Amino acid sequence: MINNIDHLFKQISHGVYVIGVTNGEKANAFTAAWVMQVSFKPPLLAISINPEHYSYQLMQAGGVCSVNVLGQDQFNVAEHFGRSHQDKMAGFEWQKATTGAPILASSLAYFDCKISHYTDAGDHNIAICQVLAAATLNQGKPLLYHQTGDMDGGNQLY
Ligand SMILES: Cc1cc2nc3c(=O)[nH]c(=O)nc-3n(C[C@H](O)[C@H](O)[C@H](O)COP(=O)(O)O)c2cc1C
Repeated sequence: MINNIDHLFKQISHGVYVIGVTNGEKANAFTAAWVMQVSFKPPLLAISINPEHYSYQLMQAGGVCSVNVLGQDQFNVAEHFGRSHQDKMAGFEWQKATTGAPILASSLAYFDCKISHYTDAGDHNIAICQVLAAATLNQGKPLLYHQTGDMDGGNQLY
């Protein structure tokens, strides 16, 4: 038993990202904080994703994703993509990456990725993603996971 575990884990620094996924005509996006660089050559990112998410089905089937960095003023964007609902993509401007993954035009920067492989991690899967392209889209400072408080409902999930 660890007291205050959610607060303690939020002391480990993470940014907040919108992950864009697509499979053919279908596209979706979800908020993720458990994202990190894991290799220089090739450049790889690891994304920890709950396999129960609708986005996971699209990620698995499509084999690509975008990682979009949210800025300090995008708390509401993190909240929007952190919930499941219909027409989640509507009302936002999207660009299409070379892989076909949706890029959030208002984000600070994006990474266009091909999924390399998955590995199990408890109640999540780790998607290892090869970065094929990346660019800055807007200036600003990144939003941090600890600033989102209990937006992800993590307090109830341990
Ligand atoms: C701040 C925040 C961080 C989150 N981080 C992750 C994460 O790293 N991995 C994950 O699988 N879900 C994470 N989530 C939860 C998903 O965003 C959420 O379950 C979302 O509804 C999934 O989208 P979908 O159901 O449309 O696929 C996070 C949510 C929030 C609000």
